Amino acid sequence: MQRIFLTGYMGAGKTTLGRDLSDFLGLSFIDLDVFIEERFHKTIRQIFAERGEEAFRELERRMLHEVAEFEDIIVSTGGGTPCFFDNMSFMNACGQTVYLRISIDELAARLEMARQTRPVLQNRTGEALKAFIRESLESRLPFYEQARFIFDAETMDTHDDVRKLSERLAQILAQ
Ligand code: S3P
Repeated sequence: MQRIFLTGYMGAGKTTLGRDLSDFLGLSFIDLDVFIEERFHKTIRQIFAERGEEAFRELERRMLHEVAEFEDIIVSTGGGTPCFFDNMSFMNACGQTVYLRISIDELAARLEMARQTRPVLQNRTGEALKAFIRESLESRLPFYEQARFIFDAETMDTHDDVRKLSERLAQILAQ
């Protein structure tokens, strides 16, 4: 039985790599944010706006416990998931955990284009966005670094790049 949790900052490629890795390994894939959105029939942005971050974190924790019941699965978590409650030790106790490590410059470039769906970023752009990433990444690192594996996944430009990462990560997870 395999249960793999991909963690890392927003824009780290957890969903992109998780989907491909699930294909490669023949496992099911769940994106925790999508799971939450489908369960509550609301976008993450709406949940934040209507109920606030604290309530979102409660839902996120509950849904994490639900998906952790499934077997032979890869879960891409939200960027904040490991940093609240005992979520990180919970994931370590019930599966393999991976921290996808990406440089601040690369995260900033990716998030510049995809910030509307991420309420935590509050529409910051340019230098303000980069400064925010630097600061919040620093406070989140102690959680991310509790992952069993730290995996550098800087380049995900093409499908080929992603597949190579999947192959490498699959090898590491099999050790
Ligand atoms: C969050 C990351 C998002 C989502 C929510 C909060 C965070 O997930 O869970 O907007 O606090 O970092 P992604 O990492 O998939 O963007």
